[in-house]
Amino acid sequence: MSTPRQNWQSKLGFILAASGSAIGLGNIVFFSSNAYQYGGGAFYLPYFIALFLLGMPMMMVEFGMGALTHQSLPLALRRFAGKKGEYLGWWTIASALFITMYYVAILGWALGMMLGSFGSLFEPGVTAPFTPMTTPASSPNATVYFFNMISTWNPMVYIVIIWLANIFILRKGTQTIEAAVRIFVPLMWAFMIILVIRGITLEGGIDGVLYLFTPDLAGISQPSVWKGAFSQMFFSLSLGLGTMTAYASYLPKDADQVNNAMLVSFLNCSFEYLAGVAIFSLLFVFALNPAGTTLSLSFFVIPQGINELSALPWVVRLFGFGFYLLVVLAGLTSSISLIEAPASAFIDKFRISRGRALAFIAIPSIIGSCLFALPYIIDPGLSGDGTLGLTLLDITDHWVFNYSLLTVGFFEAVIIGWIFGADKLRAALNQHAKVKLGRWFEFLIKYVIPLVLLLVIVFSLIAEWPLYGSAYDMPGYGWLASFIPAFWIVFTLIFAYLLTNRKTKEA
Ligand code: TRP
Repeated sequence: MSTPRQNWQSKLGFILAASGSAIGLGNIVFFSSNAYQYGGGAFYLPYFIALFLLGMPMMMVEFGMGALTHQSLPLALRRFAGKKGEYLGWWTIASALFITMYYVAILGWALGMMLGSFGSLFEPGVTAPFTPMTTPASSPNATVYFFNMISTWNPMVYIVIIWLANIFILRKGTQTIEAAVRIFVPLMWAFMIILVIRGITLEGGIDGVLYLFTPDLAGISQPSVWKGAFSQMFFSLSLGLGTMTAYASYLPKDADQVNNAMLVSFLNCSFEYLAGVAIFSLLFVFALNPAGTTLSLSFFVIPQGINELSALPWVVRLFGFGFYLLVVLAGLTSSISLIEAPASAFIDKFRISRGRALAFIAIPSIIGSCLFALPYIIDPGLSGDGTLGLTLLDITDHWVFNYSLLTVGFFEAVIIGWIFGADKLRAALNQHAKVKLGRWFEFLIKYVIPLVLLLVIVFSLIAEWPLYGSAYDMPGYGWLASFIPAFWIVFTLIFAYLLTNRKTKEA
């Protein structure tokens, strides 16, 4: 059976899809909490440098691999580096599955909060009925609402809904992806612009913006800030999981990948700074303190801020609803790309139908996503994450987010730089590019990027003791801190071994 490979119907369709992939929870949920955690202005300068040093060049590499081979990541890497390359490709796909599972779980919670805006989430002065976990009396309504929600089984329903939505959008590949992003991507820009205007017109909102954009030179000397900026850059641009290679494999050979990469990075980072402006202005207006996990900013601090807007109750509700709708739309256009990476890899390798590939991925992954929503309370004092599900998510995110993307990036740069040849990639990209890449591009791919990534990975590993999560106050569950990273490594290595050694079906 040899059906011709599908194609994007237009360049616009591709740009919408790739920027929709890049713009997601990473830009709203993770960027703001990283920027806060690493000290506002201390974060944005390393982040900006990371964009030019790592982000854009690596996006050119990933686009280039897809467009040159018309294959998704594992088989593309096989062309460049033989079996070892394919092995790396499948390892990447396995890690992508982990990230997809918890990404969808977070999206499920966002859907739950969106529905909550019809319920008691934005009811002023009302505290949600809160029995499952003990809570400090001063807790704001939104925190209570969120923990109340995740300590029930309801989020599993939301997670299944999000999975079904993903499959629905992916059912005909590029054709249905393009149809969805044509509506979702402009909508999410519109919502974000409304949010920014509201944020900076509040009295005091500008102070938050200044905090974010005033460079802080003292913070720049800390290696952890750089590590944070680099992992965030990879995640935000959807690099290091095979996504961009899969999307670019549906492009014609003569597409201008230099231009595409610049455009997608620019759109992504503009959106990210807008989100930063919106969120930091709210933070400062209401003097909120987003302590705690990555999720706290979007899941309780922002809703608390929205709750304190002095507006008519229905306006507050509408605003809160709009915020979570924005999160869900942005997240959906990203999760489809996360799922498309393994789907296209299975289709390319085994020549199975899209429906079978999607079913093969979705059935185990839905179960995985639901594990991250397990409502058992293991930490009633809320000094860690509260439920078993959120604890699993937090520890998995720590390992997979911080290490897999950068590791994949490192090997991709080595394979393209040293085995395939950075000069060959540069020549291939330049052939169709309006803005030509200079020799510096080869230098970045061969030396700078691998070296920087290696240093970041090694230094973070060294700083890793005691293992992340082992300090939690969760009697009986401390072993998760070592079990989760071990499980991730063993599972992904075996998965990669098995798939690499299966025969590739020829077209
Ligand atoms: N970039 C997306 C975000 O910011 C998430 C995402 C989609 C992603 N595909 C990816 C992250 C591939 C890393 C790799 O939310």
